[in-house]
Amino acid sequence: MADSKSAKLLVEGKEIELPILSPTAGPDVLDIRKLYGQADVFTYDPGFTSTASCDSTITYIDGDKGELWYRGYPIEQLAAESHYLEVCYLLLYGELPTEAQLVDFETRVTRHTMVHEQMHNFFRGFRRDAHPMATMVGVVGAMSAFYHDSTDIADPLQREIASIRLIAKLPTIAAMAYKYSIGQPFVYPRNDLDYASNFLHMCFAVPAEPYNVDPALARAMDRIFTLHADHEQNASTSTVRLAGSSGANPFACIAAGIACLWGPAHGGANQACLEMLREIGSVDRIPEYIAKAKDKNDPFRLMGFGHRVYKNFDPRAKVMKESADEVLELLGVHNNPTLQVAKELERIALEDEYFVSKKLYPNVDFYSGIILEAMGFPTSMFTPIFALSRTVGWISQWKEMIGDPQNKIGRPRQLYVGADKRDYVDLDKR
Ligand code: SDX
Repeated sequence: MADSKSAKLLVEGKEIELPILSPTAGPDVLDIRKLYGQADVFTYDPGFTSTASCDSTITYIDGDKGELWYRGYPIEQLAAESHYLEVCYLLLYGELPTEAQLVDFETRVTRHTMVHEQMHNFFRGFRRDAHPMATMVGVVGAMSAFYHDSTDIADPLQREIASIRLIAKLPTIAAMAYKYSIGQPFVYPRNDLDYASNFLHMCFAVPAEPYNVDPALARAMDRIFTLHADHEQNASTSTVRLAGSSGANPFACIAAGIACLWGPAHGGANQACLEMLREIGSVDRIPEYIAKAKDKNDPFRLMGFGHRVYKNFDPRAKVMKESADEVLELLGVHNNPTLQVAKELERIALEDEYFVSKKLYPNVDFYSGIILEAMGFPTSMFTPIFALSRTVGWISQWKEMIGDPQNKIGRPRQLYVGADKRDYVDLDKR
């Protein structure tokens, strides 16, 4: 980054010069690292709407143009031409793999898909009706208790092994969480299946009869994984980075990311969106919900709509919408009432002044739930699928941070507006 430019700031009569750093793409940044030392003031930005927390080479988003690049490659091209494990390689190592590199990477991931047999006992400690995200937070965090040989973050080889283990085992753990919730036996991963087919097999196969994965559904599943793989410094990725900045082991950091993703304002929106579409139920009830979303006194928001960064269509939502049409056609449920409500809700919202003025468009979560439900997943599995897809993004961002020699513990400051200094008052004087 060239930092030939600078900005001048006048703080109580003192002029401060701050470097301006220029990126490959996107807005310049004001480098305020020396501001507190020079001017004895903090910046103030709750929710970090105007703050760059790091520099990164992994993912770029242009919210105005509705663009998303993984290592410079547009998401539309990767969704159409690539596949998830190749995208994982790209996010982890920065370049598209040669054929030999891809075969080696896929083999390494495939050979790490089983979990330690004793981890099965973890699931037995949960109630059967536990939300699979609760199970995943617990079991992924507990990986630290099983894989001691890949928790030393100072060792690049251990960082690599931990990365492969997480990418390989998250689908197995997510499938186990699902099987446990429906009282069916766990299904072991199979090395003869590709990543997406393996996940579908672990979720939907039963010991009583053969289960053949439909290649078209596997392709749709794989595309959903790719669309969710990374997304710059979103809330859960920032959580992983902050946890990792203290030197916590990668399994603990990814468990923290899963916990943050669970929120309905973030990755939990795909479950909340489908439940909202079901609650609306029919096209004629849409105006009632549009009115609720616009009512300042009503906390209701249109789930699957709006985004902190995208003030244009979320490019992932466009691909997901096409995929929804394909999958529902394939499954013979193209007149799916939920999809009809979703499409009409989108049409009405995109014409409504409130949504247009606030630049609220469908996001990645708006259509994903419709596809996942059609594939046979319960809504409780939507966010676990988002989590397993995003694991490669989290771990790539974590590796980038840990490998940065400038890396230091993240420690934001605050604007203190509490009580001024005062003396203790004895109980009998209060
Ligand atoms: C993901 O960051 C990422 O990259 C996340 C993600 C990723 O890949 O990691 O892209 C994944 O989390 C997608 C977002 C999924 N969440 C939802 O679909 C939940 C519904 N959306 C909203 O909660 C909201 O849009 C957020 C949280 C996504 C973004 O909120 P912002 O940018 O902080 O905006 P805001 O809350 O300040 O809202 C701005 C205005 C407000 O009105 P005013 O106070 O200005 O009058 O827009 C309104 C909001 O009331 N608004 C909505 C709305 N979203 C914003 N009104 C109705 N319905 C909505 N969905």
